[in-house]
Amino acid sequence: MRTVLAFNDGWLYLPQQVDDSVPDSRFEPVRLPHTNVVLPHHNFDNAEYQFISTYRRRFSPPPLQAGQRLYVDFEGAMLASTVWLNGARLGEVRGGFTPFSFDLTDHLVPGENLLTVHLDSRERPDIPPYGFVVDYLTFGGIYREAALRVVDEVHLADVFVHTHDVLSQQPRVVIETALRNLAGAPRDLAIRCELLDGDQLPLAHVEEPVSVPGERLTARHDIALQAGDVRLWALDDPALYTLRVTLLDEGGAVDRVDTRFGFREARFEAGGFTLNGQRLPLIGLNRHQTYPYIGAAAPARLQRRDAEIIKWDLGCNIVRTSHYPQSRHFLDRCDEIGLLVFEEIPGWQHIGDEAWKQLSLDTLRAMIERDRSRPAIVLWGVRINESADDEAFYRATNALAHQLDPTRQTGGVRYIWESQFLEDVFTFNDFGFPLREPVHTPYLITEFGGHTFPTKTWDAEERAVEHALRHARVHNQQLGAPAITGAIGWCAFDYNTHQEFGSGDHICYHGVMDIFRLPKYAAAFYASQIDPARRVVLQAATVWSMGDRSGGGVNPLVVFSNCDAIEVFIGEERIGRFEPDRATFPHLPHAPFVIALPQQHITWGRALADLRLIGTLAGQPAAEQRIAADGLPRALALAADDRELVADGVDMTRIAFRIVDRYGNRLPYANQVVTLEADGPADLIGENPFALAGGQAALYLRARCTPGEVRIRATTPRLPPAEITVTLRAPGSG
Ligand code: GAL
Repeated sequence: MRTVLAFNDGWLYLPQQVDDSVPDSRFEPVRLPHTNVVLPHHNFDNAEYQFISTYRRRFSPPPLQAGQRLYVDFEGAMLASTVWLNGARLGEVRGGFTPFSFDLTDHLVPGENLLTVHLDSRERPDIPPYGFVVDYLTFGGIYREAALRVVDEVHLADVFVHTHDVLSQQPRVVIETALRNLAGAPRDLAIRCELLDGDQLPLAHVEEPVSVPGERLTARHDIALQAGDVRLWALDDPALYTLRVTLLDEGGAVDRVDTRFGFREARFEAGGFTLNGQRLPLIGLNRHQTYPYIGAAAPARLQRRDAEIIKWDLGCNIVRTSHYPQSRHFLDRCDEIGLLVFEEIPGWQHIGDEAWKQLSLDTLRAMIERDRSRPAIVLWGVRINESADDEAFYRATNALAHQLDPTRQTGGVRYIWESQFLEDVFTFNDFGFPLREPVHTPYLITEFGGHTFPTKTWDAEERAVEHALRHARVHNQQLGAPAITGAIGWCAFDYNTHQEFGSGDHICYHGVMDIFRLPKYAAAFYASQIDPARRVVLQAATVWSMGDRSGGGVNPLVVFSNCDAIEVFIGEERIGRFEPDRATFPHLPHAPFVIALPQQHITWGRALADLRLIGTLAGQPAAEQRIAADGLPRALALAADDRELVADGVDMTRIAFRIVDRYGNRLPYANQVVTLEADGPADLIGENPFALAGGQAALYLRARCTPGEVRIRATTPRLPPAEITVTLRAPGSG
């Protein structure tokens, strides 16, 4: 039977290329995921992560029975990995976004073995996305997890499960299994495919003999079910099932692989996108996989949290993994919570030579083979983001995608309107407004906003409000255009970039949230589109001060809310009841409120009183927000996303801090220094002390390997300190 052993602990790391003769004492002990260098959140040079480093892991192989093979599996290492075992070079893998494996068996020695990775994190022009300029950073490191895998010489090489006719009386499951036989002689086995429901209870199974000749065999099984037996994978009820494939011989199970899947039908059509037969207008954001300080080396918890932010905090129903395949943990969470995904191959405007294109095709294959059973994924991006036409190349990417996955459509993200339409969906970055009229359908807007209006969390109110309203206008127009299936904004989070892009400090301030995933007003616009039955949102987009806008004043007051009316008070005085601006935003589920306040309350020379908003739903108060007119910092707010971490040496949570007014509103111009201390078995990662950016910032708390309590204390001049506690529990306990 297959055994998979985590291989994340016990690595040694040296930020330099050395051979096996260099003593371990020169190395630093590390765990995976690992970044090759911890950096500040901005103002660093991308050259700082571009070097060749050496990762070393000494290990005693698990005992192997006759015919068993031992593989090492890496989920992702940036950007090219040359792997050695006991001095034997196993090969070089070029590309940092998809998994790779090596068969170690033939090079194992009794006792201690030494696995070495020379990791080249330079921006090599022979490897996508590089060769020209790129508006994002790849960072470096073995930044995803690794495992050792013991399998029989006949084993399951790949499992792909897809569902059909899910809306009919007879939904079907199709299972395509690739078997690998390294025994040199055919083997007679049986293959058993079981469907398990969300409680892991059996739903159906098939079993049949299979004769595996040399090398590889693909087996196909169909299982027919009754409609009443299956729950559909839907956005508000993402029911997941497990396919368990077992290979059997007379002695019992030889190999087993579990694959999660869901019953759903997703189609982009001329008249819109449909999920399970129902039209679903798509509202989404692009996500880069990079984080402050740690580059791309975010552990599972942070990956999962990003999916939750996009779905639950921002109310999106789709995310584009711009511009490359992203972490398994992020995608797992998308499957679990019902967030659709458009996943694409690595690149940025540039197409390299034939070898480069071949690498691109290899990555496309690896991406689709890794992710094609996931219900969340609804579209494959098979064009280098915003590249020029290359008919032969893009015919090849489309053909490969269709061959590997006959169930999903392809898209190819472009900014050239006249470019060749070789994909199934015309996916276009429309940075203009009003939006273009689609010529080709199905049509999906894959970016808008972005560089056309970079906005920082400390930008003046009028800019921050306009940034949010631009997102509102685009979604309003796209939702009203039947030929547009949806729009995915640029982008969810601010991100680090090269010097050719961004604001000069190597950040593109294009997010609706900042680089720490803390909100700008535009985030409140997205949140306000959430169904109030799920969460009531009420956020005034103002610092509530007379002198911040050009010319002064606070009119109009823009409020993002899913309430159906808002009662406005200034001080004790009731100003009136206001409704959303449905005239300007007729197509949004929840139009912003654009409120003209009576002039007598907001004249110069008269002290502004506190603002109080009461959002009502069907006439009943449902939410309240107050904003202090004195603008004064009253508290240092400190929050951990998680109060419990696993003491495994890699688990992390975000520790966010903000300076707030007396009612808890962030003060965007508070840029004072905050100092954090952690007392207990965990480390703070990030700039500390931190001079706030936009009144807010965050560090990460990384668990060590000892369970216990960590007390985090934050201090800043002139305000009381803030404290929180995070508990570290032993791995496997609870
Ligand atoms: C697009 C590009 C994105 C990002 C964006 C900024 O052209 O696809 O990666 O650079 O512009 O607005």
